[in-house]
Amino acid sequence: MKILLLGYMGSGKSVVAKQLSKALQYSFVDLDTAIVEDQNQSIAQLFKTKGELYFRSKERLVLDSLLEGSENLVLALGGGTPCYGDLMQKLTHTPGVITIYLGAEIDTLTNRLFSQMHTRPLISHISDKEVLSDFIRKHLFERNFYYQQAHYKIKVDQKPVQEIVREIVALLF
Ligand code: S3P
Repeated sequence: MKILLLGYMGSGKSVVAKQLSKALQYSFVDLDTAIVEDQNQSIAQLFKTKGELYFRSKERLVLDSLLEGSENLVLALGGGTPCYGDLMQKLTHTPGVITIYLGAEIDTLTNRLFSQMHTRPLISHISDKEVLSDFIRKHLFERNFYYQQAHYKIKVDQKPVQEIVREIVALLF
């Protein structure tokens, strides 16, 4: 089985995926990290030197190759991964693939992302917390169409990672 965690930047996909993989004794992959290794460049640099379209095409290729393998896997997607092309449609119809959306409130995301904006190309131009919150609100509104197609949706606000992991395990097994 391949368990794919999706959600906005700052929703905790990577941290939860890592702990979930330990609990299930599955392999863990963070898609952003896999892209960085494949391209030998940070995400910020990739956006800067090659542009977002290039990043999105690599993101899709690296994901496709990860899904080809037969091992059990917990995979943290990038925040935008399911929001391009037919990917979400494809993922929800692929046997053996389970998609789980980690949903967080705008305030939670704003507070988490405010200190990390310089490493995230999509929000690195923002310096004001209110502007960030506004950006997230609009962006999330656009992306919700894709996120809501996930097989399962979990609210993560104010929950410790282990509680989220327990909820996912209870949902799936
Ligand atoms: C992106 C989210 C990032 C990374 C890239 C683009 C997005 O991943 O893939 O900066 O479009 O939301 P995280 O959600 O893991 O931060």
